[in-house]
Amino acid sequence: AELTQEEQFQTRIDADVRIEPKDWMPEAYRKTLIRQISQHAHSEIVGMLPEGNWITRAPSLKRKAILLAKVQDEAGHGLYLYSAAETLGASRDQMLADLHSGKAKYSSIFNYPTLSWADMGTIGWLVDGAAILNQVPLCRTSYGPYARAMVRVCKEESFHQRQGFEIMQTLSEGTPEQKQMAQEALNRWWWPTLMMFGPKDADSPNTEQSMKWRIKRFTNDELRQKFVDMMVPQAEFLGLTVPDEKLRWNEAKQGYDFGEVDWAEFWDVVKGNGPCSRERLQARVDAWNEGEWVREAALAHAAKRSARGKV
Ligand code: ACO
Repeated sequence: AELTQEEQFQTRIDADVRIEPKDWMPEAYRKTLIRQISQHAHSEIVGMLPEGNWITRAPSLKRKAILLAKVQDEAGHGLYLYSAAETLGASRDQMLADLHSGKAKYSSIFNYPTLSWADMGTIGWLVDGAAILNQVPLCRTSYGPYARAMVRVCKEESFHQRQGFEIMQTLSEGTPEQKQMAQEALNRWWWPTLMMFGPKDADSPNTEQSMKWRIKRFTNDELRQKFVDMMVPQAEFLGLTVPDEKLRWNEAKQGYDFGEVDWAEFWDVVKGNGPCSRERLQARVDAWNEGEWVREAALAHAAKRSARGKV
């Protein structure tokens, strides 16, 4: 019997053939990719805010230059990702309108406040560490433009992670007050970072189909486990304590057992009620409104050039 279009598509996926923008794809595949890629893009853009908050207060010129470069990288990641979503037929204006109206989701992690300089270390070390674990497998995701964007993003994220770890190491080896500041930042960021991987597999409506389509290569719980196994030895190396009383090495599974994420808090933040949710969204809306003259000027300039015949 002849295979249906959808069966042929799945055969290509199963053979690890990359799907490209002009290839036929099921509408639901297109939709789920637009959903995930646009949420990912929004996360990068909103993710500039918690760290942007510390650029003027970085403790040295060197730290300031590094932080500035890192925040600019995140803007770049957002732009690659919006472009990847556009190849699926999504319009950038619509994606941004959905972000600004509060309709679109972005990662819960960026709705927490950055209270001390140690938070810059913790974000680089833990948050970007979680981002890398999630994104390295996305370099092999089935949709070509998304996979290719992830290759460059992951290289830059590795640099971000190293710089975060280095801030944590400097603070941990510093004065008792500095070490205390590093510990407090770890205490505040540990659980929200575990939430970045999404709900438990049993409560994740999208995982099963996304695994089948090889958009996702690992489930939320698999990545969360890998993250804990990777980070606990790093925390020990820093002389810091992971704030989880249930954390224990499990010899049989060759991994750590760990406590339960506060899922009520997670869903509350996802719904837009995080400690900084309103502030983050307002900052994006203000940036959009204040940038209106720039967009107008760019359009006017483009119109003049094309009128002069220089397209
Ligand atoms: N914050 C906000 N929303 C979340 C989070 C989170 N941490 N985790 C899950 N959700 C949302 C999902 O987007 C989904 O919403 P939707 O169905 O309304 O679109 C819902 O909760 C249910 O979750 P899942 O079914 O598990 O969703 P999915 O299969 O998309 O998995 C995940 C979520 C793991 C985040 C996936 O989308 C992914 O890998 N995305 C790419 C990476 C990414 O976006 N990273 C952003 C943070 S890293 C950074 O930007 C530095």
